Amino acid sequence: MAGILDGKAFSKKILENIKEKCEKEGLKPGLAVILVGDDPASSVYVRMKEKRCKELGFVSKGYKLPADTKEEELASLIEKLNNDDEIDGILLQLPLPSHLNSKKMLELISPEKDVDGFHPVNAGKLFTGQDAFIPCTPRGIIELLKEYKIEMEGKNAVVIGRSNIVGKPMAILLLNENATVTICHSRTKDLKEVASQADILIASIGRPYFVSGDFVKEGAVVVDVGVNRVDSIEQGEKLFGKGSEKLKKIKEKGYVLVGDVNYEEAFPKASFITPVPGGVGPLTIAMLMKNTLESHLRRKNR
Ligand code: GUN
Repeated sequence: MAGILDGKAFSKKILENIKEKCEKEGLKPGLAVILVGDDPASSVYVRMKEKRCKELGFVSKGYKLPADTKEEELASLIEKLNNDDEIDGILLQLPLPSHLNSKKMLELISPEKDVDGFHPVNAGKLFTGQDAFIPCTPRGIIELLKEYKIEMEGKNAVVIGRSNIVGKPMAILLLNENATVTICHSRTKDLKEVASQADILIASIGRPYFVSGDFVKEGAVVVDVGVNRVDSIEQGEKLFGKGSEKLKKIKEKGYVLVGDVNYEEAFPKASFITPVPGGVGPLTIAMLMKNTLESHLRRKNR
């Protein structure tokens, strides 16, 4: 039976420390958040980021641009924020509408204000072991594992998913902790077999309940990055079974949010596991705030 890696409690502690430091030292870090279009999930994330900023006393500037915003318009907003001395961090919420080139837009953000760590300069610095902004979700996972004193050195770590936001930086960070790292993806052969060798298993695929119990080695540490919305009763029956609490939730609320890991199957085998919600999710925002504070300190001391 697994111990719970309580990301919610840990992120609360991190945020309290940030708030205390800012109050004590009279710091006012600034974060700008840009949302293009009205994707409902992105709108929720952006609201949460702005709420955290206010709670911590950060300067928070929110920009909601229409879905048909042109590249030049977004580029000129980014340029303005690059030159805004009150702003230490610029976050461009992804995904962008399809007519906008995300790579090109992310490259316009000054690497010194790139608190998401998505700019190629920061990705390259991370890759070559230099000081850099580290993407928030993988950074949060490493800090969570350290908080629970989970040994990484010499362990087999398997990352499922190869995104620039989570999978790739996660693998580098685990490598920096001296884990033996394998990255799996949609073309991996015998994925289940590879995953079941993991002492530390990170699931970041975006498919509800994809990681079943037989992916999980007895005693493994399981980290579930997925947040998947299941809103069909038919799919709910298949994934969770008739008469399950989750199916009941779909019928009551219209949907349920679940991770990439089949929690009920993984829980009895794992030594530690992150729940969804309340595991990795809250840590992403806590790390965004931490990156913004660190950016502020760096820029002030320049
Ligand atoms: N979309 C999903 N996750 C993220 C994130 O961490 N940062 C940004 N900017 N967009 C996202």
